[in-house]
Order: sequence, then C-alpha cells, then structure tokens
Amino acid sequence: MQTVVITGGTDGLGKGLALHYLRRGVRVLAVGSTPAKGEALLAQAATISAAGRAVFLQADLTSVAATRDLVATVESACSSVDKLILCAQRYRLFGSRTVTREGFEHSFALAYLSRYVLGHGLRTALESAPQPVIMNVATPGVPLGRIHWDDPQLARRYSGFKATLQSFRANDLLGVAFAALHADTPIRYVGYNPGMVSTGMPDHLPQPLRTLTKASFTLLATSVPKAVTPMARLLDEPPGERFSAYRTTRRLPLKGPAFDQADALRLHHLTHDLINAV
Ligand SMILES: NC(=O)c1ccc[n+]([C@@H]2O[C@H](COP(=O)([O-])OP(=O)(O)OC[C@H]3O[C@@H](n4cnc5c(N)ncnc54)[C@H](OP(=O)(O)O)[C@@H]3O)[C@@H](O)[C@H]2O)c1
Repeated sequence: MQTVVITGGTDGLGKGLALHYLRRGVRVLAVGSTPAKGEALLAQAATISAAGRAVFLQADLTSVAATRDLVATVESACSSVDKLILCAQRYRLFGSRTVTREGFEHSFALAYLSRYVLGHGLRTALESAPQPVIMNVATPGVPLGRIHWDDPQLARRYSGFKATLQSFRANDLLGVAFAALHADTPIRYVGYNPGMVSTGMPDHLPQPLRTLTKASFTLLATSVPKAVTPMARLLDEPPGERFSAYRTTRRLPLKGPAFDQADALRLHHLTHDLINAV
C-alpha cells in the first residue's frame, strides 16, 4: 500500500489531496496544528471506508524541533513514504513581526524551514519507495520577492508582504538545491503553483482583505476538487527530471533568479547553519 504524507492535509488543497488518495486505497498521514480539523478529516475518511488508512498527526510546523519530531514519528510508523506533499501555510501579510520560540521569523519558519526539514529529513524513507515524489505547493512562476541575504529573519526592516514573498522564493530555491545536492536520488521534486483555489485561506486574513479575497475567490478561483486533479496526475506520473516547476498544468522554464543554482546552494548552506543551532 502506498503511503502519502501531507502537511496542511486537514484543510484546503492538502485535505483535497488527502481525500483523493484515501478514495484510491492509499494510506494518508495528514499533518496540521488543529486537532478538531484532524478529527473532521478522520470522520470524513470513515464515511468513505478509509478510517483504517487515515492518520492525523498534530504538529506545529513553525517549530523546527516539532518538525524534526514529526520526521521521527513518520519514520517509525512507515518503512517508506511514496509521496510527500507540502501544503502547510498561514499568510501573515499585516501586523508586526512574530518570532518563533526558536528565534525564526514566522513565515520563514512555517512556509520554508518546515519544508526544508521535512524534505531532507524524510529523504531515506522516500528513497525506499519505488517512485518517490515531493510536491512543494507554493508559488513558482510569481516574479515577486527575493531572499534578503543580509537579514533573512527580517529583523531590521520587516513587512508581512516581504516575509511572505521571501518564503515563496525560498521554496523555489529549495527544490533546485534538493535536486542539485542529490544527483543520484530517485526522488522527483516538483514545485507547484495551483493558481487561485477556493480554500479557507482568506479566513485568516485581516479585513478588508478577507472580504476582498473571498469575493475574488468566488469570481475567479478554481474549486479544490478541480485543482486537485492535475496535482494528483503529476504526483502519480512525475517528470523524469529531478526538479521541475509547474503553474497549474503549465511547466515552467527553470530560468532566471528564481531557479538560480548558486543562490539555491547558498540558501541551503545558510539554512543548514541556521537550524544546526536548534
Ligand atoms: N489557495 C490558493 O489560492 C493558493 C494559491 C497559490 C498557492 N497556494 C499554496 O497552496 C498551499 C495550500 O494552501 P491552501 O489555500 O490549501 O491553505 P489552507 O486552506 O489555509 O490550509 C492550510 C493548512 O496548513 C495547516 N497549517 C497552518 N499553520 C500550521 C502550523 N503552524 N503547523 C501545521 N500546520 C499548519 C492548516 O492546518 P491548521 O489550521 O490546523 O494549522 C491547514 O491544514 C499553500 O502552500 C499555499 O501557499 C494556495
């Protein structure tokens, strides 16, 4: 039986993918921070006769230590992992800078560091599967934001937008670095931008942005079940290259600063040193 690990697997796109794979007889380990959402997923799994294959793992992925504990939990529960799908995200576009207990800026920690720790941490479990895939669900192809090399925690000139956009760019580079570092790995790393999808994401935005985003979702966004279809196709039949990037069904050229290999390796080493101290 295949095993799929999904962060943010209790809501939005992650939950859509969790239900998709549960319907297909796969074992799904869904990670989220809210127990009630985990329980709701398990209840839904029971209605499709998948209760025995659905697992909820509660973890606060803003914490590097908790993410490492999650890696250990998954490794002890599964001899191999076929797919790792990285969806956990909480946008903080406004408000003051928040720092985690370990000293990392919130967006950097949740949207980027957790994905770094999980991808690298579960590499051996993934490499034990016949056709392993990591899908990093983020925003490749959006030409905004940059890595603030001199101040990645944005301690000096913080804005929520800057931090969010930096995490987007860091995730593009994460996939490039993963493929560059592991030349012989069978893992296919896919950076994936789902486009605008109607999830509960706006619920966490402040007003009036919440209302505006919900209105634009009503007019323009794809539904979760529709958005999941091309994602599952890619997850089941990933391209041959170690790293690829997509915006919905369109494959993106790996050109420009977003996919620069020297920057990717620079960020990898910087991240390695940062989390070594935790
Ligand atoms: N929706 C879109 O239009 C869109 C567009 C482009 C890219 N994306 C990307 O797609 C991915 C999924 O987005 P979505 O819209 O499906 O999000 P969503 O509906 O807001 O779901 C977010 C998920 O992340 C989990 N999460 C949040 N904080 C967490 C934490 N500290 N620890 C563990 N889990 C946490 C949430 O569970 P809890 O609430 O229990 O913590 C939830 O399961 C994100 O990476 C996003 O950037 C989305």
